[in-house]
Amino acid sequence: MQSNNSNHNNTAPQQQTVMVVGSGGRCHAIVDALSRSPRVGKIYCAPGNAGIAAQAECVAIQPTDVEGLLKFAKANGVDFTVVGPEAALAVGIVDAFRAEGLRIFGPTKAAARIESSKEFAKQLMVKYDVPTGYYEVFTEFEPAWEYVKARPLPAVIKYDGLAAGKGVVVAMSYEEAEQALRDMLLDSAFGKGKVIVEEYLDGPEFSFMCVVSGEKVFPLELAQDHKRAYDGDKGPNTGGMGAYSPVPFISEEVRREALERILRPVAKAMVSEGVPFTGVLYGGLILTKEGPKVIEFNARFGDPETEVVLPRLESDILTLFEAAVDGTDCELRWSPKACLGVVMASEGYPGAYAKGAVIEGLDATEGRVYHMGTATDAEGRTVTAGGRVLMVVGEGDTVAEANAAALRDVARIGCPSLFHRTDIGHQAL
Ligand code: AMP
Ligand code: GLY
Repeated sequence: MQSNNSNHNNTAPQQQTVMVVGSGGRCHAIVDALSRSPRVGKIYCAPGNAGIAAQAECVAIQPTDVEGLLKFAKANGVDFTVVGPEAALAVGIVDAFRAEGLRIFGPTKAAARIESSKEFAKQLMVKYDVPTGYYEVFTEFEPAWEYVKARPLPAVIKYDGLAAGKGVVVAMSYEEAEQALRDMLLDSAFGKGKVIVEEYLDGPEFSFMCVVSGEKVFPLELAQDHKRAYDGDKGPNTGGMGAYSPVPFISEEVRREALERILRPVAKAMVSEGVPFTGVLYGGLILTKEGPKVIEFNARFGDPETEVVLPRLESDILTLFEAAVDGTDCELRWSPKACLGVVMASEGYPGAYAKGAVIEGLDATEGRVYHMGTATDAEGRTVTAGGRVLMVVGEGDTVAEANAAALRDVARIGCPSLFHRTDIGHQAL
């Protein structure tokens, strides 16, 4: 594990104390990037995990405990806070910190609706002519089912609200579509139901994250996630089983089109709508025959994309975060190297899985290993503590080389209760 956190013990006066809110691989990558900054002194992570603990002081406060985080930040001289997970944004952490005059990187609760409400996002895109699929919103089962039945398969059915990646069904049959509509509109387990039925878009998907400050947009390098659990893009949808950056099959022309027709107009639209966005605007895009279109927006860094994009950032990340908060300018420099990460997940994930299995071999790895769901047990050993456990990142001149480097490190890690994909990056190989 490369780590470079020699700043910790000799905090110079100009160095800032930074708190990262969250605990997964994404937050580990943010902490890792911050620890490379000469401008960053002490780093806290709330709550962090066993891997993050090597680079930051972990504090046992949950990301949604805004009161607790505020109190901690004030008591411990935190100069700047960075938010990882959407759950913290959805409860208004940014609004609360700003109200107290504290500097924080992330969107307000109102701006985060671009992720938390698919209907809000769709309406915005239609109003501002941003390319996306057609859609219809339903709150009742019968009309929704009539609409779906009258249209071609596959049917894309989305629950409107944060559903931790489980709220989207791409139904290949009408039986499956009907069942999904029943689950979301008739089964109270989902809460008060509202669904969006939308056009199926076909093509390769890619993730375009931009740091946004009102109308200002700082594009990050592109990445591609792999949502299915098993090789060959088979099996159930997951939070992401691996990612890589750059994405060679997305040309500079397509990237520019995505930036000028999607990301910039949306940042501008948020200002026009009175909900200016500060933070990471994540475009989940798909390259259709008619050009790039939007599948979804997120209001935060993607996971696991962040783990392969931030290692490529050569310029100072705190300066970038500050540019977003202060509306100043910032030049980004990127490594031309490819980064590719393979997720090691607990057997059974995304369904039920066991926790507490001992992970060996972490000291023998050569590249970066970001911890997604780990803990330290009573004997001080690193153990599994989540569905997705580790993101093993390889680097190379090409995606293929980065893939080989990641898999070499995966082989060094011993934990029989973990599984992984071997074909991450296959669309780029
Ligand atoms: P989402 O949570 O909206 O990102 O959806 C999860 C996954 O479902 C996406 O990564 C796509 O693979 C798929 N998906 C969602 N919406 C569509 C769509 N309109 N057309 C095709 N696939 C989609
Ligand atoms: N990798 C997809 C997401 O972060 O939502």
